[in-house]
Amino acid sequence: MPKPPRDAFTTTFGVLVATLGSAIGLGNIWKFPSLTGANGGASFLLVYLAATLLVGLPVMIAETMLGRAARANAVTSFEILAPRGQWGWKAIGWMGFAAALLIMAFYSEVAGWVYAYIFKAVSGEISTIDPKVAGAAFGALVSSPLTVLAWQWVVLALTGGIIMFGVSKGIEAVTRRLVPLLFILLLVLCVRSLTLAGAGKGLAFLFQPDFAKITPAVVLTALGLAFFKLSLGMGTMLTYGSYFRDEQNIPWTATRVMLADLSVSLLAGIAIFPAVFTFGFAPSAGPSLVFMTIPAVFTSMPGGIVFMTIFFFLTAIASVGAILSLLEVPAAILSERYGLGRKSAAVLTIAAIALLGVPASLSQSLMENVKLFGLNPFDLFDYLTSNVLLPLGGILICLFVGWVYGPEKTEQSLSNHGALANRGLIRATFFLIRFVAPLAIAIVLLNGLKLI
Ligand code: TRP
Repeated sequence: MPKPPRDAFTTTFGVLVATLGSAIGLGNIWKFPSLTGANGGASFLLVYLAATLLVGLPVMIAETMLGRAARANAVTSFEILAPRGQWGWKAIGWMGFAAALLIMAFYSEVAGWVYAYIFKAVSGEISTIDPKVAGAAFGALVSSPLTVLAWQWVVLALTGGIIMFGVSKGIEAVTRRLVPLLFILLLVLCVRSLTLAGAGKGLAFLFQPDFAKITPAVVLTALGLAFFKLSLGMGTMLTYGSYFRDEQNIPWTATRVMLADLSVSLLAGIAIFPAVFTFGFAPSAGPSLVFMTIPAVFTSMPGGIVFMTIFFFLTAIASVGAILSLLEVPAAILSERYGLGRKSAAVLTIAAIALLGVPASLSQSLMENVKLFGLNPFDLFDYLTSNVLLPLGGILICLFVGWVYGPEKTEQSLSNHGALANRGLIRATFFLIRFVAPLAIAIVLLNGLKLI
């Protein structure tokens, strides 16, 4: 089969911005605060930090490296890199294919909520600091099946359209300019939040750990969040790595992306938790937390409606960068392996997600009582991906790099064939990839799922 010509990122800056665009999204603005709130605050944050440094960063480096070495999609890359006869490794890519669709099923729903909130912000409906009013506005949206579905389809149509235009034009152009703006607006939000009456309590919740709150399930959730936020374990970073330039410094790029991603999450946390304690929201509110507290902070400052509108608009943009990177995994597999044009691959991917998205979108209304393992479809897709598929993908990627790809090739790849003087760093990273990360993930996974 002839290989179709591959698109690529054109500049080092473009690589950084697109990779950042993948990492920063609803995981930072929506998932991080709600999980931190529901799992005990500071102690959860600590475990999350450990997971990011010891597991997340090494897996990110490993995944990107494999993609650049193979220059192919998540399935084909393992066919190219695995030794003869070891065809089983490409299952990692197919697992990623499935995970991408499952994540998108609920991610596109939440992105739809964000789009809807842009309009709610303009209308003044959510200009309130009253938890009851804020809760009612959120409830009215998610319990209306047709509205939620319609917004989800808007999200899918928009992002599907962008993916059809290809990697460099589509992804780079969209993500380049707007992520820094979101960062600035979060800073503004933090300043306001830190001058609220409950700022002290909010900060204590976020930064004073209570170690009694750490349980195996909490540790697994923190690990799953680290994978989710950095877009790891399902071939996103591998696919993006395949578009990296040969001169790109992978360890340094990954470190910068990790740090930027972390700061956005911390800012979101600092913006939200003081408000939670000032206005009397429940930190454990779950998925609705952000949609209630962020408007409350804006409402308590001058020009609230304008800033609130811009905030939800920028969050919508941030979600686009992440969604594009999720869609890219199945789209690249379908177009490169089955010779589908980019357009047909995108349409097929979007159609599959729209189907899976129906049960996710109806989980807060018509299907709220449809449960498997005690979880509605929305929660099930979320749990299954973050807490099972992504960590599992992470273990396999580490085992592949640590024991099959091996130390010599890793050193060649990560030093750009000796051009970078980073041998010590590579050795340390390789040690984490070969031993520490897979063992740590395995123990956390088995414990968190109550299998040991
Ligand atoms: N990291 C993104 C966020 O925080 C979501 C995302 C994009 C993702 N690609 C991924 C999550 C791949 C898991 C795997 O919003």
